[in-house]
Amino acid sequence: MSTVTWIEHGTEHTARWRSENGAPPPARLEVVADEITANAALRRLRSGTALLWRGDYHNARQLLTAVGRRLDQRRPPEGLRIAELFRAHRDQRAQRAELLGRILVLLEPGARLGLRRAPDVAAACREAYGEPTEPTLVSLPELLGVLGAWQWQQQGVPVPALGERIHPRHSVFSPSRSEYVDLVARAPLPAVDGGASAFDLGTGTGVLAAVLGRRGAARVVATDLNPRAVDCARENLQRLGLADRVEVLEADLFPPGRADLVVCNPPWLPGEPTSALELGIYDEGSAMLRRFLKELPEHLTEQGEGWLILSDLAEHLELRSRAELLGLIEQAGLEVVGSDSTPARHSRAADARDLLHAARRQEVTTLWRLRPVARTTAV
Ligand SMILES: C[S@@+](CC[C@H](N)C(=O)[O-])C[C@H]1O[C@@H](n2cnc3c(N)ncnc32)[C@H](O)[C@@H]1O
Repeated sequence: MSTVTWIEHGTEHTARWRSENGAPPPARLEVVADEITANAALRRLRSGTALLWRGDYHNARQLLTAVGRRLDQRRPPEGLRIAELFRAHRDQRAQRAELLGRILVLLEPGARLGLRRAPDVAAACREAYGEPTEPTLVSLPELLGVLGAWQWQQQGVPVPALGERIHPRHSVFSPSRSEYVDLVARAPLPAVDGGASAFDLGTGTGVLAAVLGRRGAARVVATDLNPRAVDCARENLQRLGLADRVEVLEADLFPPGRADLVVCNPPWLPGEPTSALELGIYDEGSAMLRRFLKELPEHLTEQGEGWLILSDLAEHLELRSRAELLGLIEQAGLEVVGSDSTPARHSRAADARDLLHAARRQEVTTLWRLRPVARTTAV
């Protein structure tokens, strides 16, 4: 555990350092309050100094927005290919997050934020960090993320295919784009007497396992590598009355055994994840996709079928080609026995100011139905 020490009004203070995305503790820290301007704050942040905010809570949020706006004025150079533009955009977002992540607040024991006009953050922080026992420094953007996630957890996200809400948690991929869930809700289930058995690999909130359970799958085993996702999925399935039919395991991809249906919605973009949440968005070298396809045949029953849910955004960003995807399917000894597609309906797909608009507006999500290629017996 790292700690940070600083001098304030002539007294030495020490606090625990906490960063969800593994940012190192600040080497230099300055205490600031309402008087600091956005330009002065940005100069200090750029010089590597972290700013411990002691002023008004709402002024801190305004400072964050003002500094963020200054950082957003930088545009990548003209004439980049879409894949280079995407990388430049990701790098820029990472640098922005690093700089803004140097604006810090102190959580006092009991997860109290001792700032003027501060909201009660205790429940949200307990959920994300566990029971706080000592003063802890966190970045203000991280704290705002924790508060936002708590709100989503409380309210839930409506899932039309279930006619109910799914409650995501901090660092767990949220099914806020429901179009891919609809694909799973309408694909024909393998016909098996007594109901199909199913696996849901990378279950996140458990949403797809819940859809399969509601559609009559006899037994579903859902896995995820992220322990928070495992807890979150268990809670959602319990709430939906499906806990007796769906088991959730912390596991790397496949559980032991075989199933009549294996569903996988891997992260859609090749790239290195930088946090637990990004485990749901970026798949380094398409490793999860490759492993799912390669290992699928040995986890299917004789009549079994795999469902791969994948957006083609990576193709429009020139990060992975369609030929590469089809090649992976073929190399795994699989064939496509059906597919169903839907255009992206989320607001960013229609936002012409978005740097990646050209790619996003063409995005289509597909459910690929896969089966091992029928083996011909030599006579
Ligand atoms: C795109 S999200 C999909 C979540 C959920 N199935 C849904 O459709 O909303 C991918 C999920 O895969 C999980 N994941 C990533 N690598 C994994 C692995 N090797 N084994 C199991 N789960 C993994 C992530 O934690 C994340 O929850």
